[in-house]
Amino acid sequence: MAKVVVFDHPLIKHKLTFIRDKNTGSKEFRELVTEVSMLMGYEVTRDFPLEEIEIETPVTTMKSQVISGKKVGLIPILRAGLGMVDGMLNLLPAARVGHVGLYRDPETLKPVEYYCKLPQDIEERELIVLDPMLATGGSATAAIDFLKEKGATSIKLVCLIAAPEGVDAVKDAHPDVDIYVAALDEKLNDHAYIVPGLGDAGDRLFGTK
Ligand code: PRP
Ligand code: URA
Repeated sequence: MAKVVVFDHPLIKHKLTFIRDKNTGSKEFRELVTEVSMLMGYEVTRDFPLEEIEIETPVTTMKSQVISGKKVGLIPILRAGLGMVDGMLNLLPAARVGHVGLYRDPETLKPVEYYCKLPQDIEERELIVLDPMLATGGSATAAIDFLKEKGATSIKLVCLIAAPEGVDAVKDAHPDVDIYVAALDEKLNDHAYIVPGLGDAGDRLFGTK
């Protein structure tokens, strides 16, 4: 069974407060989302394997550790997932970035796919799916279904804010996928928005409302 990690770091809690605040404008919102994504990346990569290499310090030679093993693919779910890419790339500059375009139909609340461009070797990569909001879980579940159909073997999901309904939906559909959330909120409202949440992540990132 995969794990669900809810962050309790003071820096993440502090920054999330201002991300949630409706008076935070798009510029600051984007900066904060980047910062929180980077902080989350620290924990998301905790199980990355290490190997020893030999190096020379100015004083002597030594064996020291570097990350080995799988290559990484970052998969933002468009649009709002884009806001988390830079923070993760700051930590993982060699990662490839694949894009999955999904929007949630406002009537049916079901995800509709409209774009996909992935690295060719996704089956060899440790994929990190990025989306600030995990509400009903429909979008994340569909994106992960899709990545598995394309051959993905190792997937983690990283979200800023989740509703319990979304976490349960992804856990049920994809018990092999670890889920990392900066905050687990109370519930969904009648429009399937997360309460208290932060509103519409895409609109707040890109200033479209
Ligand atoms: C938002 C969000 C998730 C989805 C979450 O995207 O970024 O992708 O809703 O809802 P769900 O868990 O119920 O599927 P939205 O559909 O608003 O598209 P956008 O990113 O283009 O704004
Ligand atoms: N999508 C968002 O952007 N916000 C929510 O609260 C739910 C879905």
